[in-house]
Amino acid sequence: MKKLTAEDAETRSPDVVAENVEQLKTIFPEAFTEEKVDFEVLKQLLGGVVEEREEKYGLNWHGKRRARQLALTPSTGTLRPCLAESVDWDTTRNLMIEGDNLEVLKLLQKSYSGKVKLIYIDPPYNTGKDFVYPDDFQDNIKNYLELTGQVDGGGNKLSSNTEASGRYHTDWLNMMYPRLKLARNLLGPDGALFISIDDCEVSNLRRLCDDVFGEENFVGCVVWQKKYSPQNDAQHLSELHEYVVAYALNAASWRVQLLPRSEEGLARYKNPDNDPRGPWKAGDFTTKTKAAGHSYPITSPSGKVFLPTPGRQWGPAKETFDQMMSEGRVWFGPNGSNVPALKQFLSGVQEGTVPTTLWLRELVGDNQAAMRQMAELGVPFDSPKPVGLIQQALKVNTTPTEPCIILDFFAGSGTTGHAVVTQNQSDGGSRRYVLVQLPEPLDATNIDQKAGAEFCDSVGKPRNIAEITKERLRRAGKKVREENPMFAGDLGFRVFKLASSNIRAWDPNRDDLPTTLHDSIEHLKTDRTEQDILFELLLKLGLDLTIPIEQKSIAGKAVHNIGAGTLLVCLAEQIAAAEVELLALGIAAWHKELAPAGETTVVFRDSAFADDVAKTNLTAILQQHGLENVRSL
Ligand SMILES: C[S@@+](CC[C@H](N)C(=O)[O-])C[C@H]1O[C@@H](n2cnc3c(N)ncnc32)[C@H](O)[C@@H]1O
Repeated sequence: MKKLTAEDAETRSPDVVAENVEQLKTIFPEAFTEEKVDFEVLKQLLGGVVEEREEKYGLNWHGKRRARQLALTPSTGTLRPCLAESVDWDTTRNLMIEGDNLEVLKLLQKSYSGKVKLIYIDPPYNTGKDFVYPDDFQDNIKNYLELTGQVDGGGNKLSSNTEASGRYHTDWLNMMYPRLKLARNLLGPDGALFISIDDCEVSNLRRLCDDVFGEENFVGCVVWQKKYSPQNDAQHLSELHEYVVAYALNAASWRVQLLPRSEEGLARYKNPDNDPRGPWKAGDFTTKTKAAGHSYPITSPSGKVFLPTPGRQWGPAKETFDQMMSEGRVWFGPNGSNVPALKQFLSGVQEGTVPTTLWLRELVGDNQAAMRQMAELGVPFDSPKPVGLIQQALKVNTTPTEPCIILDFFAGSGTTGHAVVTQNQSDGGSRRYVLVQLPEPLDATNIDQKAGAEFCDSVGKPRNIAEITKERLRRAGKKVREENPMFAGDLGFRVFKLASSNIRAWDPNRDDLPTTLHDSIEHLKTDRTEQDILFELLLKLGLDLTIPIEQKSIAGKAVHNIGAGTLLVCLAEQIAAAEVELLALGIAAWHKELAPAGETTVVFRDSAFADDVAKTNLTAILQQHGLENVRSL
């Protein structure tokens, strides 16, 4: 039985560096000597594509190397389930994760790598008033717990990133870069990232994304009309728009979804001649292209003769025109004497229209609409996006027939969750959401945060933004249900919270080694529940956090079956020698009944066994029944 420790690769979030090295080794084995990269050989193998100059093209800033490193450092945290704050825990497939998104993105790497269809984010815009999360290279989990007031951090205060800070853009870039790198790994082959931003950082963001995604994967920069009335006291031009910058993981395989034609667009198709092929609209018959045989006289049914206007030609060549005439595809007006026009049938054009880069407020809503939507739910939040804006991103990227995952790791008030359930309700889709939000403390003495802080207090919740997110999701789900009582879709969400790992790290107290050694006999922290440990296992083994879990009592011990036999876990605190055989045979029988397609991992609590003999016996019985992969924690 292999014992897993906190230092063990299997119990940590993925080691991205090791994975990169392995991939490099597979492609260029010659570039490795004694497990180290020989850059000279690698350069030769890459030929002319190596950049040797010191001043390279691209976005550079102080701290970029360190920020890249930050994305590569595995997390020492975990996600603890919180059933009490969840809605429909047993059935829902949506997630709301409370924590710093850098750590959470690291923890999600194994379970959600390549699985996300759309990432929509609305990060702090760096307007000078935003709080920009200060990552800590040494111990980010400790930093997180201190910053969010979950442990005493000696009065650390969250402050905003002001323009006077001297590191204004640098701090923002350092915050965004590792997060975008980790987020990219989660996208599926046809996935995309849509990011809301304004003029403050749009140019930096574009270049940052060029770096992370490759400029060839830029698919558009949408202008979103955020308001209608100009601001007369604007210092320069009054801004009425923001952007949504879009990158695909691979622009060549990303497919934009057509949008349904508007009522206005459909009204342009008519059928004045009762054509049995259905409604049509008149299209231009001429073109600018110069080709031989496209300038010929056309005689209308009333006998009028037409030639193309100077500088233009007829679209079809004479032969094709004759064919079109015989098929009744040319229109000369109700009296048969107008300039010829091409009949474009509604049935012959695409099912919808290609989305454009202009998203007007009438179509997707504006800031005022967003505030109204929050007011309707009775939840205060100072910078929400309208639900329609994110619904538009969903329509462009997803279809109702394909179940998919939508991720937003700067969730704010949770508009993305609201948009997902609203869109599912309107088109019968089964999209799922994963939201991440920092429990950013709200300060009742700050004018911008007062309403949020007082709201949390009045409903007995800690004063932080994650509480607002959860409450909004609860109220939005309830509203959708009330307005559509027949809707049977998923309106719930599972809550998880970022915490230090359930597995104790080897952190000896050099002055009291006997106590340290005694304490470390039990690897698992004593203040953690069986559920906590189960979900940490799911993350470490790369399983979905909403995978079904079944429980059975075998030899008086609770055994969990996760993912239809992929993982069988018994975390009983004591397994006596006399109980080993019955337990092992019971687990083997259950495994046979489940008959999983792939390999099964069986996990026990290491400290549960009276001695090594009991442990060895149990492993041997399981192995005799084909369960080779037995682990202890
Ligand atoms: C502009 S708001 C998003 C608003 C959201 N789109 C909405 O409609 O409500 C950005 C959010 O990101 C959160 N945030 C900032 N840094 C974070 C971090 N490191 N991890 C998680 N959330 C963070 C902030 O607390 C803030 O609520």
